[in-house]
Amino acid sequence: MKNKDGFRIENVSAASIAEKTGTPVYVYSQSAIEKNWAVFCDAVSVFPERTVCFAVKSNANMAVLRVLARSGAGADIVSGTELELALRAGIPAGKIVFSGVGKTEEEITAAVKAGIKQINAESAEELETIADIARKTGQRPVVGIRVNPDVDAHTHAKITTGTKGAKFGIDWTDACPLYRRYARSDDIALSGIEIHVGSQLLSEKPFRETFKKTAAMLRDLESDGVRIDTVDVGGGLGVPYRSGESALSPKTYAALLKEELSFFQGEFVFEPGRFIVANAGWLLARVVRTKRTGGKNFAVLDAGMNDLLRPALYDAYHDVVALSGKEPDTVYDVVGPVCESSDVFGRDRTLPELEAGDYVALCTAGAYGATMSSTYNCRPLAPEVLVKGDRFAVVRRRQTVEDMMGVQLDPDWISG
Ligand code: LLP
Repeated sequence: MKNKDGFRIENVSAASIAEKTGTPVYVYSQSAIEKNWAVFCDAVSVFPERTVCFAVKSNANMAVLRVLARSGAGADIVSGTELELALRAGIPAGKIVFSGVGKTEEEITAAVKAGIKQINAESAEELETIADIARKTGQRPVVGIRVNPDVDAHTHAKITTGTKGAKFGIDWTDACPLYRRYARSDDIALSGIEIHVGSQLLSEKPFRETFKKTAAMLRDLESDGVRIDTVDVGGGLGVPYRSGESALSPKTYAALLKEELSFFQGEFVFEPGRFIVANAGWLLARVVRTKRTGGKNFAVLDAGMNDLLRPALYDAYHDVVALSGKEPDTVYDVVGPVCESSDVFGRDRTLPELEAGDYVALCTAGAYGATMSSTYNCRPLAPEVLVKGDRFAVVRRRQTVEDMMGVQLDPDWISG
């Protein structure tokens, strides 16, 4: 996205956005989101019956959700608020699936009343709660069980979800009898199975292992006379974060699934998040100052770990690019202003010589960037901008001190 006018996002100069909105600011390319969506949907079109549900946790900006809704997206949600956002964005309830180990009764009730596509239960206790709620509301929700297949996803430990001992899902030995128990339930239609083993998977192996195990589970159920209509394979398809890193293409991923589960006649549900939005987003930041200490050059940005937590939490790599486009010749540790030693975006990065006021872009920040941000150090949440062609619009404004103060209340024994 670089040319002679410096760093551009679609046809807009990134620096001009930074000038207009101030920094830090998240910027998303609508065309990149639409393209990723189309690439994914095209790859899985080898399955006659399928629903693609965007993982809202990866990017919950309403404009982004509306773009996806217009492209026909469903939603994978993990909270009552995500349900509300997805519905308000125009995603039909019939295309929404709900996972999560701690769904509250209120959240389950809202999902049942909305008539969502499928609730993926993560425990026997939750299945009972869903059945109780179904009885009260008089609806018969479609339910799946999230099974823990005990597969090592070979990704960062903090984004591995499907190994034994993880809090997610139910072990197969415990899940199998539950299908039998609820097979003829009047309260719920237990007809789905979900398996999600982790995020940012870059190789075939964990997917193949998972799909093989899923095939074995489906055969077990079939021989027990249990009918499964939907296989929800979760998300997890990784993307390259650094140059030279290779990732699985959606086509290869779909071919793997087809190979292992060709006998399955029902519907597949996909829950991609990162693949759709990661490379369609940048976090723009300004250099507050540079400093030299301990034999190192530091570029201190006005964006911090509160804005983009991934490097601090997962040692995640995000490319840092200077918007000026000048020749990189100086090595910096690129850091944020937050009072934590882990507030480091990248060490030993070669960049053009920077000075206060210069802009940089943290790349591949469209997934799990804004959604994981916080106000730590009382730093307001960054705005979000959507670019389309040569236009851009602020689609979430920067939080103000008034927004932050507005939710703080004085007890009556302390006078303000
Ligand atoms: N479905 C389920 C049940 C999930 O738990 C997740 C992600 C997804 C779908 C979407 O996965 P994706 O396609 O985006 O890999 N904050 C971490 C990632 C956490 C992922 C949690 N679950 C990060 O920044 O890398």
